[in-house]
Amino acid sequence: MKVRFTETVLRDAQQSLIATRMPFEEFEGILPELDKAGYYSLECWGGATFDSCLRYLNEDPWEMLRKIRKACPNTKLQMLLRGQNLLGYKHYPDDVVRMFVKKSIENGIDIIRIFDALNDLRNIETAVDETLKNGAIASGTICYTTSPIHNLEAYVKLAKDLENMGVNTISIKDMAGIIAPQDAYDLVKAIKENVKLPVIFHTHSTTGLGPISALKAVEAGADVIDTAISSMAGGTSQPPTETLEYALRTAGYETGLDTAVLKKINDFFKDIRSKDIESGLLNPIILSTETDALIYQIPGGMLSNLVAQLKAQNSLHLLDKVLEEVPRVREDLGYPPLVTPMSQMVGVQAAINVLVGERYKNISNEIKAYIRGEYGKAPGKINEELIKKGLGDEPMFTGRYADTLEPMFEKTKAELGSLARSDEDVLSYIAFPQQAESFFKRREAKEKGVFEYSIQRID
Ligand code: CO
Repeated sequence: MKVRFTETVLRDAQQSLIATRMPFEEFEGILPELDKAGYYSLECWGGATFDSCLRYLNEDPWEMLRKIRKACPNTKLQMLLRGQNLLGYKHYPDDVVRMFVKKSIENGIDIIRIFDALNDLRNIETAVDETLKNGAIASGTICYTTSPIHNLEAYVKLAKDLENMGVNTISIKDMAGIIAPQDAYDLVKAIKENVKLPVIFHTHSTTGLGPISALKAVEAGADVIDTAISSMAGGTSQPPTETLEYALRTAGYETGLDTAVLKKINDFFKDIRSKDIESGLLNPIILSTETDALIYQIPGGMLSNLVAQLKAQNSLHLLDKVLEEVPRVREDLGYPPLVTPMSQMVGVQAAINVLVGERYKNISNEIKAYIRGEYGKAPGKINEELIKKGLGDEPMFTGRYADTLEPMFEKTKAELGSLARSDEDVLSYIAFPQQAESFFKRREAKEKGVFEYSIQRID
C-alpha cells in the first residue's frame, strides 16, 4: 500500500495561520530540504500568495516562483487556481486565463489544482484545457461542503464530469475542515469506484477532524493527502505531516517520506512559528481546535479574516452574531461552498447585516453580481426576496460569464507600455492593478536607489 503527501507549508498552511506573510528570504534556507523530503508535491504558489507578494511583501510573485523552482529541482511544484477567477475575486476573459496558466507553467509550476467556488465546471474548463496543453498536471477539484442539496451522488457526478473534461487527478477540497471521517471514507470510496483517476484529499485541522478524516480518506483509497509540517500544522492549517506519516507508516503504508529530513524542516519552521507568535502575526488561538466551525462551516482563512475585519471596526464583540448570520446568508444564496471568493462575500455580507442591524439593507456589489449569475450557477435556489432586493428588474444571467468578456491581455499590455517589463508583469497588473502598479514603481525606485522600502508584515 502506498500513499503520498503534498506539503502545504509554503501556501495553505501559512495562508491559514499567518495570512500569507512569509517573505521568500524567510523560507529560502529550507527549500533544499523540502526538495529532499520525498513529497508528492510542494504546494507553494497561487491562492493568496500572489496577492500577498505584491501587496505586503514587496516581492514579485513570478520571481519568487522561479527562485523556488531553482531551489527545488526534484519536487513537483503545485499551485492553487480559482478557475476563471485565477487568483483574484472576479472572472477574467479566456485569453487572460490561458496566458496566466501558460506563464505559471513556464515559470515552474508542475501541478495546477483548479477549482470553482460554486463547483460550476464551466468556470474551470479553460484553465484545465490550457494546463493540459502545456503538459502540466491538471487536478480537477471538488469543493466539499454540506447542505441539504449536497450529497454523495452529486459529488460522484462532479468527479465523473471532471474525468470527462480530461483532468489528471481529482482533488477533494474540504476547506472548512468539516468533513466527518466516515463521510471522507464514503466520498473517496465512491469516487474511486466510479472514476479511474488518482484521488487527492485536502482538509484543515480547524475542527479537530482533519487528521482522522485524512486517515479514513487513505483507508478508502486516497492516493495523496495534503499535510503541513507539524510546527505549521493544526488549527486552521492542515493536519501534521509527521503525525500522518507515522500513523500511516505504522499501519503498513509506504509514504516515501524521509523522516530525518522532515525533522530538519520542522525545526526550521519552529523558529519561524516562535517569532510569529511573539510579533503577534500568529495568533495562538488559530492553532487550537474550533468546533464551532462544525456549526458555522467557517474555513481556515475566513475566521481570521472576520476577526480582523471586526477588530478594525471595533466590533469584535459582534463576532458570535456574525458567525450565526453566516449560515443564514449562505442558505439565502443557495448554499454556495464557503471558499474564496464566496467565503469572503458571504462573510462580508453577514457582517454588514449584523453591523447595519437590518438584513440586506445594504447588499455588497459582489453579492449583487452573484445574484445576477456572474459567478456561475448557484448550487441551490437563491432566496426570492433577496433576488428582488438585489436585482430589481434586471434579468438573471444564465450563460458562462467569461463568454461575455472581451479579450484584454494584448490591450492591457499596450496600455502599460514600459511600466510592465514582461508578460508576467502584465498578468500581475491584470490580477491586482493597484498593487502591481505600486509594486512596479517601488521596484523602479529601488533600482534607482531613490528611497528605502520596508516590508510591511502586518496590515
Ligand atoms: Co485549504
